[in-house]
Formats: sequence, structure tokens, C-alpha cells
Amino acid sequence: MSINYAEKIPNNVELGSNRTLQRALEQWQPAFLNWWKELGPTDFQANDVYLRTAISVDAKGWAHYDYVKMPEYRWGIFLADPEHDRRVGFGDEFGKPVWQQVPGEHRSALRRLIVTQGDTEPASVEQQRLLGHTAPSLYDLRNLFQVNVEEGRHLWAMVYLLHAYFGRDGREEAEELLARHSGDADNPRILATFNEPIRDWLSFFMFTFFTDRDGKFQLKSFAESSFDPFARTCKFMLTEEAHHMFVGDTGIARVVRRTLEVMSETGSDDPDTVRHAGAVDLPTLQRYLNFWFSSSLDLFGADASSNAAQYFATGIKGRPDEKKFADHLAAGTSFDLEIPDGSLGTRVDTIPMRNAMNEVVRNAYVDDCMKGLTHWNRILEAAGHAYRFTLPSTRFRRGIGSWANIPTDPAGNRITQEAYDAQLGSWLPSDDDRAFVGSLMQRVTEPGKMAGWIAPPDKGVKDRPVDYEYVRVV
Ligand SMILES: [Fe+2]
Ligand SMILES: [Fe+2]
Repeated sequence: MSINYAEKIPNNVELGSNRTLQRALEQWQPAFLNWWKELGPTDFQANDVYLRTAISVDAKGWAHYDYVKMPEYRWGIFLADPEHDRRVGFGDEFGKPVWQQVPGEHRSALRRLIVTQGDTEPASVEQQRLLGHTAPSLYDLRNLFQVNVEEGRHLWAMVYLLHAYFGRDGREEAEELLARHSGDADNPRILATFNEPIRDWLSFFMFTFFTDRDGKFQLKSFAESSFDPFARTCKFMLTEEAHHMFVGDTGIARVVRRTLEVMSETGSDDPDTVRHAGAVDLPTLQRYLNFWFSSSLDLFGADASSNAAQYFATGIKGRPDEKKFADHLAAGTSFDLEIPDGSLGTRVDTIPMRNAMNEVVRNAYVDDCMKGLTHWNRILEAAGHAYRFTLPSTRFRRGIGSWANIPTDPAGNRITQEAYDAQLGSWLPSDDDRAFVGSLMQRVTEPGKMAGWIAPPDKGVKDRPVDYEYVRVV
């Protein structure tokens, strides 16, 4: 299916054949553009940015690269091609044909999942809106904007589903998606992580690594959904999402490389010496990592969850890569959950597998996060340094589930509240850390030049050199 660019809203869903839906979306479009201008990137809206735009949903060559002014980006509606005779892949309806319309009994649950996913997309754009001021290079500036316009497109993807399949309620929800704002005291975004400020580029890289990766696992679970238009929408979103995590993974790797250079130049790994030389010391990186990883863990929901069981049983939300599992019913099996017990102990609670689905997805996410740590630790190892990054335990600093508000150290050992309060400041970025990182954030706009705290990337974007003028600043 090719994408129709002649229409106001590019799409591969034959929008032109449904006038009512087309008109409703064309009415939402100016509201979206207003939101983009008011709460999207604060700088460079009038500049040419070298961006990719989706032009097909083919695995090969789905994107076109060229200079675009961000407000003129072609945000559109693209669903992965339908699968012939697709069947429900898990739960009680296993093997029956998938749904092309929303079954009445699953309407509110599906709407809730789509709205919650949709809410995260514009939220992250709002969180990142000031970063253009302080981009460490034109290459990074361009990557930030690429992520931003694609999160805008992901909002479009969810709004399409709301308009097309949920009638009046859906249209109201679509308006609400532009009315809630990240960090707003009265009308915040739905999930806590998406109300955390992102004031510096270290936070941006951690966010794209850890929080966009939560998005990846949610989308992979939704790509299994029996509601076929939802599954196809999320499947294509994953294609774009991969780049966001690449930005995080390579961004942190480049910070580590630069820090190692400074450590070797100064002959010291003392954090103060590293800071004086204008780089981020490794323990500060670890504290940022602790913050964003633990915050992102809560996005998966409670470890024991009757909602998760219901989503799986009814076929509306599966497990990532459901095909890899042998048992798609997960009906008579169980899951051992380690939960807090007594004053400082733990015990194992055996719960039905379906109730543990959030934990199953969270564990898959943790394994995926470990790959990034292995990558960064290999850079440290190759440079002959003994320092290693560690991933905190999933018990650490949790706000949701059995471990919510249970004091543990980053390794997951239970400790007293007093010990926790006394040490938390050393495990998370302090005001001083944030002020120091903030002081490094200086805008660099000469093509190919990098700020002093980050190494250049290995290569540029889409066969362009690193010193390409990714954003035309004049
Ligand atoms: Fe997204
Ligand atoms: Fe993303």
C-alpha cells in the first residue's frame, strides 16, 4: 500500500473514501499545529532541518530524507500492511479471526490503552522543547528534531484510531491529548515519567534509551493485539522508534568516550578533575541512569495486575514477540513473584501467569536495557578502566506495584527508611550534579563541531558526513 501525499493528511488508509472521518481529522489538524507551535521545539522552527519522512511502509526504503521546516513536516497516518487471514494470537479467543472493528465489550479497555499510549507521544515533545537551545552539535540537533516530529506522528497514529473507531468519545479524547501538558500542575500527562523535566542532553539521551524503550515494549505488545488496525499502527511505529533508542544508546556511548579521553588526558579518574576538564564523570552518568531506569520501570504497571490478566485473556494486549512463546493461552500456569515481607524480608508469591503479564514484559525490557549497559561497559573495558555501569534492581525506587515505596538500595536489598533517606541523594543526580551538567550545555552550531563533553558520532545520517549542515542555522 502506498502513501497518498496529494491529500492534506498523508495516509495509506484510503482516508479520501471516508469523508466524515477525513473532515474530522482535518479539523483536528490545525489544533495539532497550534500545539506544535506553542509546545513543540522552542527554536529553529523556521530553519531547514535534514529530516526523514515516511513515504511507504515497506521494510526497505520506507523513508525519504531532505530539508524540511518542522511546521511543514508531513505528519500522516501509516499502518503496516494487513496480514492475510490474521488470527488472534493469544488468550481465550486464540485462533479466531482478528477484529477489524472494536468489539463493544472491549471498547473502554482499548480506548484507555490507546489514550495512554497517545498521551506519551506529545508529552515527550513537550519535555524536550527547550533542548534546541543547547544542542552539542548540528548532528544532535537534527536527531532531537527527528525524534520530536516522529513523536508528533505517533500522536497522529493514535488520534486516527480514536477518530476512526471510537466515535464521539474518541474525538473528545483526541482533544484532551492536546489539552494535557507535561508537568502541568492542573492537567498533567497521564504517566509520571512523562511529567519529569528534561533540562539537559544527558537526560535526553537517558530518556531516549530507557523511556523510549518502554515505548518499544508497549508497542510490541500492542502489535500483537487482536484489534487489527491497532496492531498494524503500532507495528509501523516500531520502525521509527528504533532510531530514538539509537540516539540514546550512541549518545551515552559518545559521552562515555569523551569522558575516557579526558581521564586519559588528565591522567585522573577523580570526578572533580574530570569535571574541571569539562566532561561528565562516570558516577554522575550512573546516577542519571539510576533515575531514568527506575522511573521508566513504573511505566509497565503493577507486577501483579488483574487488568493485565484481563487484557491478555480478552486478546487486546499480548506479550512482545508472542510467537516466541510455546503456550499462547497461559491459562493454567503460574509465575513466582518475589515480594516484600515482614520488616526487611521477602517471600515468594505464586500468582497466575496472566496476572504477571506486566512483569513478563518488564523483564523483557530489563534484558534489552542490559544490552546498552554491555555496550557502554565494553567501551570502558577497551580503554582499560575498571569502572562498570550497573542496572539497578527492579525493586529500587519504585512507585507502583509490590515494591512501591519499599526502601531498598540500588541492588534491591531491603534497608531501613532512615538508611534509604540518608543515601538516596548519592544514588540519584543531586542538585549539584544537575547544575554541573547544566553548565556544560552550550550550543554548538558549526557543522562537524562537538561540545567538549561529547565525542563525535562514528558516522553521519543516511550516508551524509558528520560535518554535514544538518540544520541550516542561518
Ligand atoms: Fe513514539
Ligand atoms: Fe520514541
